[in-house]
Formats: sequence, structure tokens, C-alpha cells
Amino acid sequence: MKPRYSLEGRTALITGASSGIGAHLAALFGAAGARVLLGARRKDRTEEEAGKIRAAGGEALAVELDVTDEGSVIAAYDAAEKAFGTVDTIVANAGISRDGRSTDVSAGDMQAVVDTNFSGVYLTAREGARRLIAAGSRESGAGRIVLLGSITSFANHNGDATYAAMKAAVAHLGRNLAREWVRMGINVNTVHPGYIETELNADFYKTEGGEAHIRSFHRRRLTAVEALDDPILFFASDASAMVTGSELIVDDGQRL
Ligand code: NAI
Repeated sequence: MKPRYSLEGRTALITGASSGIGAHLAALFGAAGARVLLGARRKDRTEEEAGKIRAAGGEALAVELDVTDEGSVIAAYDAAEKAFGTVDTIVANAGISRDGRSTDVSAGDMQAVVDTNFSGVYLTAREGARRLIAAGSRESGAGRIVLLGSITSFANHNGDATYAAMKAAVAHLGRNLAREWVRMGINVNTVHPGYIETELNADFYKTEGGEAHIRSFHRRRLTAVEALDDPILFFASDASAMVTGSELIVDDGQRL
């Protein structure tokens, strides 16, 4: 099916595109006409995903990227620009979870979540914005940054405190960056998905606890990854020219 919003003429970087939501969005963006940069640490995996996009007639390139490392973020944008020109569409999707009761989680695991899920988003958005502004986004109004939040930003759970706190921080970061760049032609919006089965949580959903979690949702089901397609394409496209600093929850009502 043809994607609902066109990304023709856009150059998009998707972080964490080696699996799950990121890989799914990369394929979607390719089908919507964007030149897609797939950023992740596992370049063999992003090469494979980029190959599939090219085989389907799209334009795509894998770039090595560790979002926790500023040098790696800069190098990824350099590689992206060299191949496809200025990146005008950014999806800050890379994320990890290190669940467990806060009294048990190690300081190292806590820090890894902060570094990836907050600092990684910050560094990705900031480097993209610097380059967009230098390339004239103030005049073109072309900049689109989409942040991946989570319904955990609103919930009080037992066992993902740092993850949830960093997702809430991402949403607030998004509102602040939107304010900061509102005159620079860069829109920043956050999408909060519900629970979707990916590598992040697939092991959990195979357990009794995971099955009980699904039964606890009002509609007794996980959110389908495809539910994110139209909302994220919209925020990435020209259609959202006048939408910035906003948030959209896509969770099949799981948080209610
Ligand atoms: P996933 O584990 O399949 O994908 C995460 C991706 O981020 C992987 O490709 C991983 O390699 C990459 N990544 C991790 N650390 C990185 C780093 N330092 N530099 C570059 N890439 C890195 O998980 P999923 O579910 O696709 O998650 C994607 C985003 O969606 C995350 O931000 C997650 O928190 C968020 N999310 C996921 C939900 C779910 O239920 N699956 C629900 C709400 C939000």
C-alpha cells in the first residue's frame, strides 16, 4: 500500500534502525520516497535493511552510529551528508531498557539507559539541528525531528523507573527544543508508542508475566508497529509544517 504521506525529496536519518521500530520505519520511509540513512552500531544489520529498501526501489544507506558518543554522531551525519546531502528529517529512535527494581539495577545499567535514551536523543537532535540551521532551514522550514517517547513517560510502574523517567525527559526535551528552534524552521514532535513486540521486550512477552501483561491491556493485545506509520510519516513530512512541540500517544488505549 502506498504510504499516506510523501517524503519525496527528504533525506532522513533514523537512529537504531538495525531492528524493531527503527528498521520498520526505515522501510516505510524508503517506500514514502525519502533517501534513508539507517544509523546503528550493528552495521551488518543496517546494511541488510538498507539492501531491502534498495531492492524495493528506494534509496538507502547504512551508517555506523553510536548515539551515546558525540564523535560517532558527528561522523554519521558527515557520512550521511556526503552521500545524500543535508539530513532534514530525523527520527531519534535508538533506545534500550534495563528493567528491574531500582534497588537491584546496577549504577552501570542505570547510566546506560540515561546515556542512550536521553543523551543519545539530545546529541542526535542537536547535531541535526546545527546542520539544518547552517543549511538554511530558517528560510526553507524543512526541518523535522521526531522523538520516540513511550507511554511509560506517563505511567507509574514497578521495574522500569530510569527508562520511564528518561522517556518523560525526552518529551520535555522535545518541547524545549521545539521552542528553541521554532524560528529556525525545525519542528520537533514526540510520539509515545504503547507496548509493541520487538527485540527490546520479545523475551519478556514469551514468559507468563509477559502474557499476563498483555491480558492486562483493555484490548488484550500489543500495539501493532504499523500503528505508528501514519503518525510518524505525518510528523516527518511537509504536512506537519505548522505542528511543533506536540506529542501523540499511539498505544491502543493501553495506558488508560
Ligand atoms: P529494539 O531493541 O528492537 O530497537 C532499538 C534499536 O536501538 C536497536 O536497533 C539498537 O541496536 C539501537 N541502539 C541501542 N543503543 C544504541 C546506540 N547507542 N546507538 C545506536 N543505536 C542504538 O527496540 P524497539 O522496541 O524497536 O525500540 C525503539 C524505540 O522505541 C526505543 O526508543 C524504545 O524505547 C521505544 N519504544 C518501544 C516500545 C516497545 O514496546 N517496543 C514502546 C515505547 C517506546
